[in-house]
Amino acid sequence: MLYILDTADLEAIKHCNEFYPLAGVTTNPSIISKANTDFWKLVKEIRNIIGEDKMLHVQTTQKTAEKIVEEAKLLKKELKGDFYVKIPINEEGLKATMELKKLGIGVTMTAIFTPTQALIAAKAGASFVAPYVNRLDNIIGDGTEVVAQIVEQFDLYGMDCKVLAASFKNAEQVHKCSMVGCQSVTVTADILKNVISHPMTDAAIAGFDKDWKSVYGDKTILDF
Ligand code: G3P
Repeated sequence: MLYILDTADLEAIKHCNEFYPLAGVTTNPSIISKANTDFWKLVKEIRNIIGEDKMLHVQTTQKTAEKIVEEAKLLKKELKGDFYVKIPINEEGLKATMELKKLGIGVTMTAIFTPTQALIAAKAGASFVAPYVNRLDNIIGDGTEVVAQIVEQFDLYGMDCKVLAASFKNAEQVHKCSMVGCQSVTVTADILKNVISHPMTDAAIAGFDKDWKSVYGDKTILDF
């Protein structure tokens, strides 16, 4: 499982990059707009924080295949390292994906809501497909079931494409995706924190601390 952070909040990225086994960062136009700052300064700072070995996924703002390819080349040139251009699925997006595959620029096909979209994106050469789990759950779809079907299809057809499940609102959705073999998830810092948190864990840690202190006071193993 690859854990990716879905944010352009630099403090959150610094924190999670230090404390979690992070594989990279994803953004989209809504996330970038929220930061409301100079685009290049922001994405280059994200690259600086995570380094060139980790994945950076940035979404195109273009609508035609030709312009998407032009923008992807510029993004790759400027952001270097392990880079993927996010392209929403439609005809122009598929055409751009086929071109970018030839150029060796990684594509994450995004705004995926069905297994049929995912399979054809993989066939066009996308390295990742990003199904939106919570947005499906919100309309009484079953986000994790869609993820499960995509994983199964990729397996059936031997597609060299990973599922990057996105749009999460809670840790249970992340867990359900992990149980169906989803290869990667992109989540907020809050959800990442929820993934590792449990009140019983906090209670266990407090209990160990109390018992140790009752005998050894403030002394730690390093002090013996
Ligand atoms: O980039 C896709 C994902 O981040 C969308 O999440 O929370 O806007 O549904 P959300």
